[in-house]
Amino acid sequence: MSEKTKGDVSPSSASRLLHPMHTVLVSCVGKSGKPNIITLAWAMPTSINPPLVAISIAPRRHSHGLIEETKEFVVNIPTIDILKETLFCGRVSGKDHDKFKESGLTPLPAKKVKPPAIKECVAHLECKLHSQFTTGDHTIFIGEIVEAYADTSIFTETYNLKKAKMVFHLGGNEFATLNSKVLMPTLKAQSN
Ligand SMILES: Cc1cc2nc3c(=O)[nH]c(=O)nc-3n(C[C@H](O)[C@H](O)[C@H](O)COP(=O)(O)O)c2cc1C
Repeated sequence: MSEKTKGDVSPSSASRLLHPMHTVLVSCVGKSGKPNIITLAWAMPTSINPPLVAISIAPRRHSHGLIEETKEFVVNIPTIDILKETLFCGRVSGKDHDKFKESGLTPLPAKKVKPPAIKECVAHLECKLHSQFTTGDHTIFIGEIVEAYADTSIFTETYNLKKAKMVFHLGGNEFATLNSKVLMPTLKAQSN
């Protein structure tokens, strides 16, 4: 086996070693009623019962204030069909842009929360704010999932990756998607 050198990565860039990260579009709305969209690579499930999801947002983002105002948000799952729109929503601010209008993404009334879902996404998790924590220069918002739905031709118990090409963020303006080959290792013993 050839010897490989591992070079130092600065602490401020080390988070990129955890990428590519599954990227989501979070829709939110403030008291003014104007909806907004923010692109997030830092999102993850944190509990099954109750069903909780965590998103990490820097306080300077317009969406940060909107979520604090109405305490609701929708996590929408994009595919590479809307990659340009996904990048756009992560590069301009709702402070001075109407991202629904300018991206062409369509707001769909959500079932249980005020922010709209995004029609062009394949799945949606409607959340009510459960709690929030400051973590360094970001805030982790924990959302309790009050409603979730997905395109049934793409998701049954897992995603059909031949049909849905998810967006993964490498860093900067670089993205990747998954190979549709599904791996299922067999184990001799399994305790859970
Ligand atoms: C692919 C991608 C991933 C991003 N992930 C995050 C993230 O996890 N947290 C965050 O605070 N900002 C993230 N951003 C930056 C925000 O999406 C960006 O600052 C956005 O313009 C904020 O919009 P707003 O001011 O309307 O809220 C990401 C941007 C891109 C392009």
